[in-house]
Amino acid sequence: MKVIVVKNAAEGGKQGFQVFKDALANGAKVFGLATGSTPISTYDEITSSDLDFSHVTSVNLDEYVGLGPDHPQSYNYFMHEHFFNKKPFANSYLPDGLNKDAEAETKRYDKVIADNPIDLGILGLGRNGHIGFNEPGTPFDSTTHQVKLTESTIAANARFFDNEEEVPKYAYSMGIGSILKDKQILLEAYGEEKADAVKGMIEGPVTPDLPASSLQNHDKVIVVIDEAAASKL
Ligand code: GLP
Repeated sequence: MKVIVVKNAAEGGKQGFQVFKDALANGAKVFGLATGSTPISTYDEITSSDLDFSHVTSVNLDEYVGLGPDHPQSYNYFMHEHFFNKKPFANSYLPDGLNKDAEAETKRYDKVIADNPIDLGILGLGRNGHIGFNEPGTPFDSTTHQVKLTESTIAANARFFDNEEEVPKYAYSMGIGSILKDKQILLEAYGEEKADAVKGMIEGPVTPDLPASSLQNHDKVIVVIDEAAASKL
């Protein structure tokens, strides 16, 4: 892993932009995208730049089950607000949170990933070390699946909803096995509340107890963290 420590998320966004730009210049055709507050500075840099990525594809990591594109807390809505409405890709894929048939939806999404192999995947990091919505205990060879969210993730994401009751209990997520097939990975993490997960990811044992530690098995990972997230290294 190449670890880059920056002052804050704004600086991290500049690093993230550079990684995206380099990948594009090297011929990347498919970008894996994450939601959450973390990648916003990178997305802002990308969408306000003059980069032309109108010919490439994006594939998102995950979506809440039960929330459609019109729901302000759906990941589909988030991606349009922070990225696609500003500067679109040729095609953008997300899991369909409104498809109640989990088996059909996860199969459909695995085909999307197989048809669009990801050149650069952008990841955030959950406080418990999750990537996408792959919670602790998820096997490293997992493909797209329906996830029962942990209490910790529901509590962490409750700040975006009126109350904790409204946070969906399930999500569809790309699996760790699929993420590890990304040709290159950029993981960003900012803030002190990520420091334990960052330490486990970089220095800890490779274990499903901390899903992001699986990235130690990947040979092209760039980690961009701020000083607070790096404080326990
Ligand atoms: C959610 C998403 C993850 C994201 C994580 C961290 O659980 N499924 O993809 O990395 O939140 O969010 P944030 O970047 O807001 O801290």
